[in-house]
Amino acid sequence: MKRTKIVEALKYAERGIEVNVKGWVRTRRGGKQVCFIALNDGSTIHNIQVVAAVGQIEDELLKSITTGACISVDGILVDSQGQGQQVEIQATHITVYGTADPDTYPLQKKGHSLEFLREIAHLRGRTNTFGAVFRLRHHLAFAIHKFFHDRGFFYFHTPIITASDCEGAGQMFRVTTLEQGMEQTGDGTISFDNDFFGKQANLTVSGQLEGETAALALGAIYTFGPTFRAENSNTPRHLAEFWMIEPEVAFNEIEENMQLAEDFIKYCIQWALDNCPDDLRFLNDHYDAELIERLQSVAKDDFVRLSYTEGIAILEQAIAHGYKFEFPVFWGTDLSAEHERYLVEEHFHSPVILTNYPKEIKAFYMKLNEDGKTVRAMDVLFPKIGEIIGGSQREENYDKLSARIRELGIPAKDIWWYLDTRRFGAAPHSGFGLGFERLLLFVTGMNNIRDVIPFPRTPRNADF
Ligand code: 4AD
Ligand code: MG
Repeated sequence: MKRTKIVEALKYAERGIEVNVKGWVRTRRGGKQVCFIALNDGSTIHNIQVVAAVGQIEDELLKSITTGACISVDGILVDSQGQGQQVEIQATHITVYGTADPDTYPLQKKGHSLEFLREIAHLRGRTNTFGAVFRLRHHLAFAIHKFFHDRGFFYFHTPIITASDCEGAGQMFRVTTLEQGMEQTGDGTISFDNDFFGKQANLTVSGQLEGETAALALGAIYTFGPTFRAENSNTPRHLAEFWMIEPEVAFNEIEENMQLAEDFIKYCIQWALDNCPDDLRFLNDHYDAELIERLQSVAKDDFVRLSYTEGIAILEQAIAHGYKFEFPVFWGTDLSAEHERYLVEEHFHSPVILTNYPKEIKAFYMKLNEDGKTVRAMDVLFPKIGEIIGGSQREENYDKLSARIRELGIPAKDIWWYLDTRRFGAAPHSGFGLGFERLLLFVTGMNNIRDVIPFPRTPRNADF
């Protein structure tokens, strides 16, 4: 018999038909005459109830069907006698694919802590929580491709191994095949002559620089791939390996870039609301009672837009009124998460797009404003998250950009090709990067970024 996914079987209107379902046993409650099996196959958060009558199904076989076992069930779809479900399956035949020893299978009872589940990341997808999170992760990835595809953007693949440091923050993982340390040259510096690429190579922190070359050829592109940062930030918002979406658009100035970011993120949130109602309802009921309401309001209301300078003024006012921050606030400082969250959660009660940051705290490629002090940066700040998007209009002027590159001591031999885009057919252009896991944090209501990526990579942790 052809297998029916449980998500479909639960929707069937017919009764008395034969079906086959396959999945993993969540619970088994047994009486002497009948036993009830809650079966889940990952296609939906809902289980289907299988009723196995002693006599129909062999006793020995029934005993081996414990929590975690994988089974295939043939049976008749009938109206459920019990509460909590519309249909159930009266089993006529069961095959056990794989048992799960109750003494050692770790997912016995409900209500394991998220910390414990991280230690069994290879099994946590079988819980309601992680089933919901990983289904949402898929649906959002799909929504992202659809959003850009529908708007004529091309998905562009930028390299994962690269010699350039896009953000210039020096947080890169080195890629090498050299076995014994690094070779020292006469002056004590390291020689990469004998290394695989004949030069220093790293895992990328961002596909932006290569993405810009493509925007200046195809008009509008986006990347969507893994990025790597060796920052030693053991926070609930940082991963060493995370996925980033980076659109880059020729002829867009900063205002259009802001609008694109706002439209994009609202589209993703609305997509989740429309396509994942059951999973969101579960997360809302079990983790964050305001989740769905928060998503609805962010999808609907306009984001607040203000300059960094205005933002600093608001924070200084808060301090004057007695509000305490851990880190100092002054014009020129990089905002920390507590500052960002104050603006969003305490002051505006809305997502905020902050623009025109001091050039010293932003990357080399951002377009310098007429004041000579600030750049056309934009960070999108979100409730519960802080920064969810970072982006900017790019400096397209060759002389200004090369002056900045020299000022920061970025080696010309690594960046000549990027500068070429400003020598040949330069154009105004803008883009941004959305941290995929930060979006997922917001949409799922989870509090720790380790719980929205299947196998998190963080300082001192690369298990699985
Ligand atoms: O602000 P960032 O560093 O910007 C860039 O990388 C630009 N090149 C993007 C562009 O303009 N094309 O990073 C972008 C976003 C952040 O806003 C944040 O959401 C996420 O990436 N992010 C991280 N997410 C998880 N773990 C980390 N360690 C992250 N670092 C940045
Ligand atoms: Mg940033």
